Amino acid sequence: MNTEFAPGFQARIPVGLLGATGSVGQRFVQLLHRHPWFELVCLVASDSRAGETYGSQVTWAQNDPMPKAIANLTLAKAMDLDPPQTPLVFSALPASAASPIETLLSEHGIFIVSNAASHRTDADVPLLIPEVNAAHLDHLNGKCLITGPNCCVAGLMLALAPLHKTFGLKRIFIATMQALSGAGLPGAAGPLAEANVLPQINGEVDKVETEPFKILSTWQDGKFIAPDFQISALCNRVPVVDGHTMSLSLELQTPATCEQLIETWNTFQAEPQSLGLPSAPAQPVQYHPEFTAPNPREYTPRNGGMTTHIGQLAPCPILGHKFTLSTHNTLRGAAAGNLLIAELLVAKGLLPN
Ligand SMILES: NC(=O)c1ccc[n+]([C@@H]2O[C@H](COP(=O)([O-])OP(=O)(O)OC[C@H]3O[C@@H](n4cnc5c(N)ncnc54)[C@H](OP(=O)(O)O)[C@@H]3O)[C@@H](O)[C@H]2O)c1
Repeated sequence: MNTEFAPGFQARIPVGLLGATGSVGQRFVQLLHRHPWFELVCLVASDSRAGETYGSQVTWAQNDPMPKAIANLTLAKAMDLDPPQTPLVFSALPASAASPIETLLSEHGIFIVSNAASHRTDADVPLLIPEVNAAHLDHLNGKCLITGPNCCVAGLMLALAPLHKTFGLKRIFIATMQALSGAGLPGAAGPLAEANVLPQINGEVDKVETEPFKILSTWQDGKFIAPDFQISALCNRVPVVDGHTMSLSLELQTPATCEQLIETWNTFQAEPQSLGLPSAPAQPVQYHPEFTAPNPREYTPRNGGMTTHIGQLAPCPILGHKFTLSTHNTLRGAAAGNLLIAELLVAKGLLPN
């Protein structure tokens, strides 16, 4: 695929960004600044910052310097966005603010790709991982709102979906170890999170236990039907900078060997790979036999933070198999994962040109 511009477009597509000053918003700024298809033209934070330059308002927490051209952009209000200027808008808003703003903008015909949880469970809003359920975009029914999953679920499903397709899932137990950046900007997880484990993250267990069913659902007789398996999760905040780790035990419908699981993961390919979308990793999920794999500091930044890394696969005396995976929470689990959704939307011809 020609990656100079998106297929069918003569220039980069102008896009907006809600929540631009936050942890996920800053990741979007980094990625959009060098994106071949999209040009970031409008930035939005809280209304009180409107009229100020982005550079003067953001507490930049990324390792790379802030792109100069973006620093000079003036912050707008969400209600200033309009479809001809920004037909596509990414949302990195907190759920509380996202619900009314995303509804209003999408009703005005702006395509919204959102990180927030507010609309993930709406029956008519796709909850999308391009490698897993791209076909759900066929059921948008003229709506303009698409959500990405929870930051654990995004990486988790790249490990589970290939197993579900090949062997069928039956029962899964998951314990998460989630990075501090998942709570927002540095310090947002609070002082108790320093050199400690916080054994609860507000609302997280519910998301990990419910979102996989919507993502793996199939379209039958005019509605989505969820698959029949069980998930039980416990979620922990740990003092890791970036990258969520999960240890799982799982039971499959059809018994399989460890070698078959590894083969299934390592050969998994999907539409984003065949279409050559700019943010698609060559390998969405990869098994690593090394003793220290998949520790999040070394593994999750690889492949643009878009691959789920798996290690420690072994027989589980209770459920059959156990393993550990890691996934980049602000890249695959947020900004880069949402860019891949938008690229798929464009490649499927759903964004007017
Ligand atoms: N962090 C992760 O790993 C991760 C992963 C997946 C999904 N998410 C989701 O992504 C979203 C953003 O998370 P985050 O960690 O980036 O949060 P964050 O660091 O707290 O940033 C929130 C952003 O939203 C803006 N904002 C807050 N209230 C607003 C309002 N009423 N109107 C307009 N803008 C408002 C803030 O602007 P000001 O600076 O002006 O306050 C800031 O730019 C959340 O829904 C979160 O659940 C996060």
